[in-house]
Parts: sequence; C-alpha cells; structure tokens
Amino acid sequence: MVKTREAMTPLEVEQASAAVTRRVLSLPAFRESRYLLAYVDLRNEVRTGVLIQAALAAGKQVALPVTNRERRALTAARITVYPEGLAPGAYGVPEPQRYEEMPPEVLDCILVPGVAYDYAGYRLGFGGGYYDRFLSRVRRHAVLIGLAYDFQVCATVYPEEYDQSVHFVVSETRTLDLSG
Ligand SMILES: Nc1ncnc2c1ncn2[C@@H]1O[C@H](COP(=O)(O)OP(=O)(O)OP(=O)(O)O)[C@@H](O)[C@H]1O
Ligand SMILES: [Mg+2]
Repeated sequence: MVKTREAMTPLEVEQASAAVTRRVLSLPAFRESRYLLAYVDLRNEVRTGVLIQAALAAGKQVALPVTNRERRALTAARITVYPEGLAPGAYGVPEPQRYEEMPPEVLDCILVPGVAYDYAGYRLGFGGGYYDRFLSRVRRHAVLIGLAYDFQVCATVYPEEYDQSVHFVVSETRTLDLSG
C-alpha cells in the first residue's frame, strides 16, 4: 500500500484528496467539532490543507502533531495559521515551531493518517505506535476519523490489543461509519 501510494501522481493525490475532503466537510462529527487535531500530509498521504484551513476559518481550535522520538510520543500543538510557522521535525514531518500544547483531553475530533484501515476501523501505521499511544489518552467522546484512499481500505489489518480503532474511515468513494 505504501508503494501504491508512492506511485500516485500529484493529480491523482489532488483529486482523491479533494473527494475525501468533501466527505469530511459534510460529516457532522467534523462540522460540530471545536478542538481538532489534524495531521500534515507527507509523501502522498491524503492531503489535509483544505480541511485545516476550513477548520481555522470556522473558528475551531486546531492542533498538529509534534513528534518526540525519545519518548515515542505525539503532542498536539495548537496553530492559528497554516501553513506558515512549520518546519521539518522528526521523520521530516513539518511541525509547529512555537506552540502551546492542546491537552489530549480537550480534543473532540482527530484526523488520523494511516497506511491501511480495515472494515472494523482498525489501522496500520508506520509501526512506531505513536498514534496508538496518543489515541489511548484521548477522551471517549472524541471522534476519530481515518483518512485513506480506497485502495488502503481492506478486510483486516490483523489488529492487536493496543491498536486503536477509528469511528469513521473516509476514502474517495466511501465513508465507513463504525460509531454505531
Ligand atoms: N498504548 C501503548 N502503550 C505502550 N506501547 C504501545 C501502545 N500502543 C502501541 N504500543 C507499542 O508500539 C509498537 C508499535 O505499534 P504498531 O505496530 O501498532 O504501530 P502503528 O500503529 O503501525 O504505528 P503508528 O501509531 O506510529 O502509526 C508496538 O510494538 C506496541 O507494543
Ligand atoms: Mg498500531
């Protein structure tokens, strides 16, 4: 799936991301959220720029992850502008330079990146456990939305006990609602 994603053209990434973005913008869980953690897309991940801009314009508080490699931990770093003020951090992911932490308990919506998702909402990441560890600290009311391309959604990712599942998996042609 990583290889397939790497082989996508910029136009394919743009068009598929626009379709995913439209679906997310219409989700009540996203629209009604006030404290959003997004991610900065890298290497053909589903693009999040439009969603981040829309969230800021709607007056939501928005945060982006800052990665701490020693602690193998993510921090939600509040931003007020995008994409200004970011510089490459761990693993080359752009992250806010000066920021206030948004405590995990206040988050009510999280856009989650992934290498693959399954029909139960379980997720395969890049193998650091960063999101699994972070998501285990957020409150139950937070709505987790996995963003993916259709080809990244599959029957099972063989989850283990510590793997956190998401409530929605949104791809170009489908929104899986697992919140019921
Ligand atoms: N809540 C947790 N507490 C402690 N260790 C954890 C926790 N969640 C995951 N881990 C550890 O992190 C390691 C990597 O997890 P996993 O293989 O699921 O990564 P991943 O979900 O693909 O990565 P990521 O979340 O960074 O995208 C596992 O070996 C696991 O033991
Ligand atoms: Mg995992």
